[in-house]
Amino acid sequence: MEVKKLMVIGAGQMGSGIAQVCAHAGYEVVLNDLKTEFVERGLSMIEKNLSRQVQKERMTSGEKAEITGRISKSTDLQDAQDVDLVIEAAVENMDVKCKIFSHLDKITPAHTILATNTSSLPITEIAAATDRPERVIGMHFMNPVPVMRLVEIIRGLATADEVYETIEEITTKLSKVPVEVNDFPGFVANRILMPMINEAIYTLYEGVATKEAIDEVMKLGMNHPMGPLTLADFIGLDTCLYIMETLHDGFGDDKYRPCPLLRKYVKAGWLGKKTGRGFYTYD
Ligand code: CAA
Ligand code: NAD
Repeated sequence: MEVKKLMVIGAGQMGSGIAQVCAHAGYEVVLNDLKTEFVERGLSMIEKNLSRQVQKERMTSGEKAEITGRISKSTDLQDAQDVDLVIEAAVENMDVKCKIFSHLDKITPAHTILATNTSSLPITEIAAATDRPERVIGMHFMNPVPVMRLVEIIRGLATADEVYETIEEITTKLSKVPVEVNDFPGFVANRILMPMINEAIYTLYEGVATKEAIDEVMKLGMNHPMGPLTLADFIGLDTCLYIMETLHDGFGDDKYRPCPLLRKYVKAGWLGKKTGRGFYTYD
């Protein structure tokens, strides 16, 4: 199936990155969020990233203008009426995602593929909110999207082979590497990464070391590009908590219990880099 036009829902750090790489690969992109100011914020992130590419002489300003010219703004889901693919990257919450998918199912053409960038939520459950579960799929990009090469692709119970193949092909066209994984809570990436981050937060909570020391141990000792607390701030502490809750609920095992300090920070609105404060503070 040929995809020409797509909508990205959620213009946050993931949605804006996904819109950028899709427009770069030649797709016509509609970037949707709840408010114009959120869409504008996403577009300014794209603008900043592409300007850096121009400065580094990896792209001309004409190419940059062509890429941004392929992205249009939307605050109305109704704008998905003529798209071939939707990639949803709104907040990591099952109710929100099910409402979006149920709405999209009613307004998009029958051939439209509905993909979700969920970090951890069951694809089969999101697909069940629609009458086209065979056209629903997980397309899990990594942060920062323009840099990270992996896309986990997750089939729901009913996902059609043709839909899987189309998403695999698009992923390759975006210069990313598709890896198929099964529909289990957290898939593979966050099943392994998030318990490590949660354990780092417990290590801080129990006073084993300072945040700086914990990050330094993992950076210098394990060659991780970022320490786990810096990475948690980068991902977003709300997203980290939602993922841990999905693992905890999904497997029912206490080893996935979210650290109380993580809950406390999220309740305080300290969500990490995106709100200017998490384990660290940001300008
Ligand atoms: N957006 C776009 N590009 C970015 C970026 C961003 N937010 N941050 C960094 N970059 C680019 C820089 O422009 C630079 O590009 P060039 O070299 O081509 O100019 C390149 O990335 C390297 O950046 P820096 O030299 O500034 O810094 P760095 O070497 O420390 O790399 C990093 C930055 C790539 C983010 C690196 O620290 C890293 O890999 N961190 C770990 C990221 C990671 O683990 N991501 C997965 C998170 S988990 C996830 O995504 C799944 C989930 O569901 C939660
Ligand atoms: P974010 O908080 O940066 O952005 C989310 C955006 O979605 C916000 O701009 C918000 O206004 C918008 N939004 C919320 N409800 C909406 C709705 N009903 N319709 C349209 N827009 C809506 O979050 P993010 O980090 O970009 O994460 C988005 C999704 O991507 C989540 O499902 C998350 O789990 C997943 N994800 C995140 C990461 C990460 O590292 N942060 C990595 C991979 C996947």
